[in-house]
Amino acid sequence: MADFQIDELIDRSGAVRTDDLDFEAAARIGVTDAEARVLRYMADTETHTIIYMKDLLAGHSARDPEITAFLSVWVYEELWHGRAIDRVLVASGREVPTERSREITVGRSIREGLEALVSHAAANLTPHFIAVHMAWGALNEFTAAASYNALARTTENPAVATLCRRIAQQERKHFAFYYGQARKRMEASRVARGLARFAMMNLWDPVGDGVAGHDNLAHTARTLFAEPWAWRELERAEERMQQLPGLEGFDRLTLKIGALLPGGPPTAAEPGYAAAH
Ligand SMILES: [Fe+2]
Ligand SMILES: [Fe+2]
Repeated sequence: MADFQIDELIDRSGAVRTDDLDFEAAARIGVTDAEARVLRYMADTETHTIIYMKDLLAGHSARDPEITAFLSVWVYEELWHGRAIDRVLVASGREVPTERSREITVGRSIREGLEALVSHAAANLTPHFIAVHMAWGALNEFTAAASYNALARTTENPAVATLCRRIAQQERKHFAFYYGQARKRMEASRVARGLARFAMMNLWDPVGDGVAGHDNLAHTARTLFAEPWAWRELERAEERMQQLPGLEGFDRLTLKIGALLPGGPPTAAEPGYAAAH
């Protein structure tokens, strides 16, 4: 795969489109309680991307022009994912809570705060720490895309389905940037490989666990990834990550999400697993 072109990404960037969604059908069909909770979780995570960006802009990352250009576009698109989801939720007859922002920022866990401090320090100490942020971001974007695709496939609400597909496309574009950056840096440096391996194998947690609440994360995982075809997509994300030099044997994604599924993850023996595309 060629190096990801930042100029092309910026040229193609923008707020996800919502004006042509079928809001009339959304109002008529609505969303299930499970969908509403998943969408709330997604919107909360998306809207608060700026909190994560503060960490990403630490140390040497802030001095890399490709990364800063990407992050400028990234945070804007993510914010719009959140706003677009809120729009569809309202159209589907659901209330969007106010004062959400304050609650979530305050609700950031002590552990997350500590991790941010450590990551700030490390990012200032070595330029190779960028590889950690890039690998971390790549996995989060892939799992976000898988989540939106799973919801698009199961919902009866056409506005939700179309929006989720559009958001998933942007998440895949974000993934391509992060992944290309991670690979370039991990190929070039043993230190980058070591740091990324340590962080991903020991510290990575599913996105939103802190800002949007663990119970909501567990509910989202159960709703979206209990079916073999959806689970298979997470395995694909993990397989892509394993192809990064230094991340051989990476299995924290399926371990973490699998632990949230009451009966454990679907297995290859289940119907639908082999047919998953
Ligand atoms: Fe997003
Ligand atoms: Fe994204």
